[in-house]
Parts: sequence; structure tokens; C-alpha cells
Amino acid sequence: MRLKIAVLAGDGIGPEVTREATNILRAVAELGGHDFIFTEGLIGGIAITETGSPLPTATLDTALDSDAVLMGAVGDNKFNALTPDKRPEAGLLQIRQALGGFANLRPSVAYAALSESSPLRPEVTKDVDILFVRELLGGLYFGAPRWWNRETGESINTMRYTKSEVTRVARIAFDLASKRRRKVTSVDKANVLEVSQLWRATVTEVAKDYPDVTLEHQLVDSMAMHIMNTPRNFDVVLTENLFGDILSDEAGVITGSLGMLPSATIGGAVNLYEPVHGSAPDIAGTGKANPLGAILTAAMILRHSANLETDAKAVEEAVHKVLNEGYRTADIARGGPSITTQEMGKLVHQALAES
Ligand code: NAI
Ligand code: MG
Repeated sequence: MRLKIAVLAGDGIGPEVTREATNILRAVAELGGHDFIFTEGLIGGIAITETGSPLPTATLDTALDSDAVLMGAVGDNKFNALTPDKRPEAGLLQIRQALGGFANLRPSVAYAALSESSPLRPEVTKDVDILFVRELLGGLYFGAPRWWNRETGESINTMRYTKSEVTRVARIAFDLASKRRRKVTSVDKANVLEVSQLWRATVTEVAKDYPDVTLEHQLVDSMAMHIMNTPRNFDVVLTENLFGDILSDEAGVITGSLGMLPSATIGGAVNLYEPVHGSAPDIAGTGKANPLGAILTAAMILRHSANLETDAKAVEEAVHKVLNEGYRTADIARGGPSITTQEMGKLVHQALAES
């Protein structure tokens, strides 16, 4: 198996966690006799400093010429005074749009060893394994018109979806559910929003092609409560852009730390993989960053871009094993002893090699 991976480490802890993730990918390649080719590119604050642009053309070309893009995180306080279009984060939005992925996958998995790190009771989080499929290119984030008229004190954003936009993301959710526990929970606000009525009707229509998958609809407000009360009831959760942004962050509580959460954006020209967390300037350079979110993101590359499901599972199992053995980075140590980013990466590597 040959795979070209563009590595855009970015700012802050981005390079620190990305290094551990690529080490794991290198180990998988070596163990399985695969050929993974890594090409590095600049994005975010470091790209502005070195080239003047948060997403240089060279980076975009590298990304588009790859089979998968692994991103660290972008964002640096020294650019805080700039307008949004000039800041490091602009690079992130530009690359997401250029790659065209419309389905953002965010797993929320409960690790038994971390049950004490979550404010939810262990009996509630036990065995939780939710996969959010969030529509990423439509809805309020991109709908036009959008403006803020400072003179009149009026502003507008538009929640807009077409049937085909809903259909394509729904298909991804059902395809994934059919390889998991065969349940899709579609989230909307169909009692109030026309867009949600289109959403619900379209998802119901798509469901007819997947007789083995159960479909349920939930209103977003009560869903926010169900996720906290009965998270085990959910398998694949399908949402529009804004609802998914909010609910998947909420579900992050189940895992116990932002540093544990991976994500993948699929469906476009090239899939984009990134841990959910940002550049964490408060801990950058201290060795405190948790690399597991990035390492689990690497597992998603194996699953969704390389079709190496067994290897993806092996990486996830290695993470479970290291956590079960009691090793913790500071964010999940609850004040107890902790190890560094690199030490955690090495332990996962060892566990993988021994598996
Ligand atoms: P953040 O996710 O960087 O950090 C939030 C808190 O979580 C901080 O206390 C941080 O230390 C901690 N944290 C995050 N990742 C961690 C990890 N792997 N291990 C241990 N602790 C971790 O979010 P924040 O502080 O709101 O934003 C910082 C910068 O990152 C900003 O410039 C923001 O725009 C950017 N950002 C970038 C994202 C991306 O590149 N996808 C996503 C979110 C924020
Ligand atoms: Mg968010």
C-alpha cells in the first residue's frame, strides 16, 4: 500500500503532536510493509511569518497532490490584532474549502481508564462510542447573505441547504453506520426550521436504501440532553454544520480531554485529518501536550484513506493499552504523575509493536 501524506504541522503544539502521529504512521508502514510518503507544508502563523500567507500556494499544491492531509493546529497569539482574513485561522478555513470535504467525522469514545477524567459518572460513559457526522460546507457558516451593518445595527446569517447537500452527507453517515452498530440518529430542529424539514425528509428518503440501518430523528435541544444522560444509545449521529459543532464539543466531555479527540473530513478531493484541539499556546513547548488526539487522527487516516481497518484498530488498541497501564499526560492526570508528549508517543509505539 502506497500513501502520500501531506503533513501540515502548523503552530503551537501542532508540530509536537503531529510528530508523534507521524511516528506511529511510520511504525505501521514498517510493520505492514507499506510505503507512506510524508511531505511537509507550512500553514497558519508559521506560514504567515515565513511567506506572508496563512496558506501558501505551495502548501495547497502539496495537499492537493496527496492522498491524505494531516494537520496539527493553527493559531498564534501574536496575530491576535489582525482581522480574521489575515490571521492563521484563515489558512484552516481556506484549506478546508479547497479540499472540499463535506463530512466531518468526530468520534467520541469513552476510555474506561479515563472514566474519572469525565465529569459524567462512569456508569453513564461506560462503552460509549459515538461517531458524529457533521455537514461541514453548508448551513449558517457559509450561507449567503451574511453581513453586519454597523450603521443600522442589523446583521444576518443564512442557514441554507440543498437536497443534494443533505443527501451526500446522509449517505456517508449510513455507509459508516452499516459498518458499525447500524443506527443513525439524525439531528435537526424540524419543529421550527424549514431547513430542518428538508433535512429530515431527505435523510428519511436516503434511509430507504439502507434497510439494515435504523434511523431515528432527534431535535437538537433535547439531543443536547440525551448525549449527557444516555450517550450509550447513540452510534452514528448525523447533523448539519452548527448543530454538529456544538454537540460534538459537548460529547467531548465523555472522553475527558480535548487532547484526546481526533477528526477526519471526507468526501472532497483529499481527506483532511486533524485533532480537534487548537494550538494551545498556553502549553506549547512544555512537553505537556497530549498527542493521543493526533495519534487517533492517524488511525483515522489508516481507516478512511488507506483502507487499513486492522491497523487503525491496532493503533486504537495501543492507545487503550497505554491508558489502561496508567500512563497519563498532564491534561488527563488529574493532578497525579504525568509523562511528556514524546514519552506518551513512544509508549503507544511500543504497545503497537508488541501487538
Ligand atoms: P485550544 O484547543 O488550543 O486549547 C484549549 C485548552 O485545552 C487549553 O488550555 C489547552 O492547553 C488545552 N489543550 C488543547 N489541546 C491539548 C492537548 N493536545 N493536550 C493537552 N491540553 C490541550 O483552544 P484555544 O485555547 O481556544 O485556542 C488556541 C488557539 O488555537 C487559537 O489561536 C485558536 O484560534 C486556535 N484553534 C485552532 C484550531 C485548529 O487549528 N483546528 C481549533 C481550535 C482553536
Ligand atoms: Mg468547534
